[in-house]
Amino acid sequence: MRGFKGIVFVLSRVNRNRSALGEKGLSGVSNASLGFYTVWAAHLGRRYGILQALSRRKRRAGTGAIARACGLHEPAVRVWCEAARSLGLIEGGGDGYRLPADRRALLANPDDVRFLGGQFSYLALRSLDFGAFDAFFRRGEAGAPARRHLREASEEATRWDHTSFLEFLLPRMADVRSRLQAGARVLDIGCGTGGWALTMARAFPRSRFTGIDPDREAIRIATGRNAGGGRGVRFLVGSGGASMRGSGPYDLAYLGEVLYGVKDKLRLLRQVRRSLARDGVVVVAEGLVAPARRAAEPAAQLVAAMGLDFALQGARFFRRSELDALLADAGFHRVKFHDAGGGLWFVVAGVDPSALGSERGGAARTPRGDR
Ligand SMILES: C[S@@+](CC[C@H](N)C(=O)[O-])C[C@H]1O[C@@H](n2cnc3c(N)ncnc32)[C@H](O)[C@@H]1O
Repeated sequence: MRGFKGIVFVLSRVNRNRSALGEKGLSGVSNASLGFYTVWAAHLGRRYGILQALSRRKRRAGTGAIARACGLHEPAVRVWCEAARSLGLIEGGGDGYRLPADRRALLANPDDVRFLGGQFSYLALRSLDFGAFDAFFRRGEAGAPARRHLREASEEATRWDHTSFLEFLLPRMADVRSRLQAGARVLDIGCGTGGWALTMARAFPRSRFTGIDPDREAIRIATGRNAGGGRGVRFLVGSGGASMRGSGPYDLAYLGEVLYGVKDKLRLLRQVRRSLARDGVVVVAEGLVAPARRAAEPAAQLVAAMGLDFALQGARFFRRSELDALLADAGFHRVKFHDAGGGLWFVVAGVDPSALGSERGGAARTPRGDR
């Protein structure tokens, strides 16, 4: 959801008033087409390590040297460099190419909060599943063919969420940050391939992280990424209930772009609340539909456009009021919305003590029913 900044950056460089045919109306088509190729050029540059290789070099590099460094076919590198240069992603020409310093953070450094590369890759990878729109429009189907590249695409998109959690959200949650520093028990629900838990474990070595996800392949990848990573992180196959209880109660639970795709959202949130300690905190990261008065803003437009992608997944974006009410119904209170930019929000809430009372004991107890 963060790509709009990059796309706006590129389009503002193009900003044609007239098409080659002299018709003003076609400038939008040119810009949209250039946006499409920018998404793909950025994705291919990252996928084949060209952008990363360029970001490590101070001087210009020829296409032969880039191809050797990345183990690639030189003519392919040459045509990519020329496309990427014309789109404004890199600079240079016949004597070599370079990635300007301001674009290193944007395209090649996932640990920088300005990083947008993952969003380009998300869009490119998701577009590989768009053949499934046929079944969606004709028969209302949103099944497995629409999700073939979703795991990989999500992994790319959420890298920014993880950096943003550390750089944007935690400075606004001093108490949570000090708990993490001292050693907290943390639950990552819908952990996917483990990016958030692994990033957090590196930043907070005294804390213990449990990641759960129903996707066995994602958990296999996450466990592999954690090989030799010590005992601070573990990954389990599961979607709630029993899988959440093991090492709880937890001080912090994170649901990073998970809830939108869950069928019984209230049930999952109640399970999360029961897995938390009395002073536990939940953080939900989700894209939110903007209110009508902000509908013309680029982030709002992007969320609306991505509604097509979400519909194909059998899901949709939340409205703010909806998520607010859902958290209250699940027994959370003091709900705070933090706008991280690009349509993504971090929503933070605490366990409502009155919800604990009505369940005779709360966090440390084994919930009945919701398993
Ligand atoms: C967009 S990915 C986000 C992955 C991860 N949270 C991140 O930030 O990188 C959504 C994940 O939610 C998982 N998921 C879907 N339904 C779930 C459920 N009921 N309980 C837990 N996880 C679920 C999916 O398998 C997928 O890995």
